[in-house]
Amino acid sequence: MVKILLIGAGGQLGQEVLNQLNALTSIEVTPTTTASLDITDAPNLKNRILSDTFDFLINCTAYTAVDKAETEVNRAEAINAEAIQIIGEVAAQHNMKVIHISTDYVFDGKAYLPYTEEAPTHPDSIYGKTKLKGEQKLLNSNPQSIIIRTSWLYSKNGNNFVKTMLRLGKERDELKVVADQIGTPTYTGDLAQLICHIINADMSNQISFKPGIYHYSNEGVASWYDFAISIFQNTNIDCKVIPIASKEFPTAAPRPYYSVLNKSKIKNTYQIEIPHWQTSLKKCLSSMKITDI
Ligand SMILES: NC(=O)c1ccc[n+]([C@@H]2O[C@H](COP(=O)([O-])OP(=O)(O)OC[C@H]3O[C@@H](n4cnc5c(N)ncnc54)[C@H](OP(=O)(O)O)[C@@H]3O)[C@@H](O)[C@H]2O)c1
Repeated sequence: MVKILLIGAGGQLGQEVLNQLNALTSIEVTPTTTASLDITDAPNLKNRILSDTFDFLINCTAYTAVDKAETEVNRAEAINAEAIQIIGEVAAQHNMKVIHISTDYVFDGKAYLPYTEEAPTHPDSIYGKTKLKGEQKLLNSNPQSIIIRTSWLYSKNGNNFVKTMLRLGKERDELKVVADQIGTPTYTGDLAQLICHIINADMSNQISFKPGIYHYSNEGVASWYDFAISIFQNTNIDCKVIPIASKEFPTAAPRPYYSVLNKSKIKNTYQIEIPHWQTSLKKCLSSMKITDI
């Protein structure tokens, strides 16, 4: 029996990972949420990691309020960086493999070709800076760690762009959406499947756990404007989408203009095919209850 500690099981990715892990055999999952484990409580975090002989620790927690992080710097740092140091140290002492999630916001978005894992990082926001610190602390403290940088996550759970568009699209006749930020939407169902695949492949000795940083998003490229159009087309919501420039929609934290990730390393190492974002968007929308749409 492989034992997994899943922290952040109440978040949009965490819920999906928990559902998919529960469907696997020979796996015992211990999920925690903020209510059961606040990861900024260091002694409690250590005790929980040591409460059983876990083989894997999956971290789906994060301080994800990108704009609020600009003023709540200490809190963002505590969750995205300091707690990750503790996770890394304790996991290393007990031979635990860690799977941690990071973000395209570690880049400044000034590139014009998809970012590889070796591309220089240069976060512009507090969120991006604290997530990058978390990556560095984890890699320095526990060499048995996989860090998956992803982008534009959405799911039927939690707060995300898809759910915001569905709500606003029903309330309004037209919406202004930023058209000059380019990235790739990522369905949590696909990312959760990758995480399960990494664990399964290691358990079955097919592909041993290969530590390091990996980039993962769905295939394809879109602006937020393209994404919004596609959401409305798939749900027959009659709402006109008007493209605007980022400067017309100021935010406290700067966003990367271009944050497409190069996924060759994860595809080659883990022998996976990645669905196009439009295919996965349809899948997510069809999994939502009529009341969600
Ligand atoms: N969302 C995106 O578009 C996106 C894009 C790129 C990368 N990522 C990364 O993907 C990962 C998953 O993101 P997500 O979208 O699933 O985020 P999410 O829905 O905001 O979930 C994050 C979870 O972390 C928990 N958490 C926050 N502070 C905590 C604390 N002190 N102790 C314990 N748990 C705490 C939250 O619990 P509460 O809700 O109770 O606070 C929440 O359940 C994160 O690493 C994020 O940085 C996200």
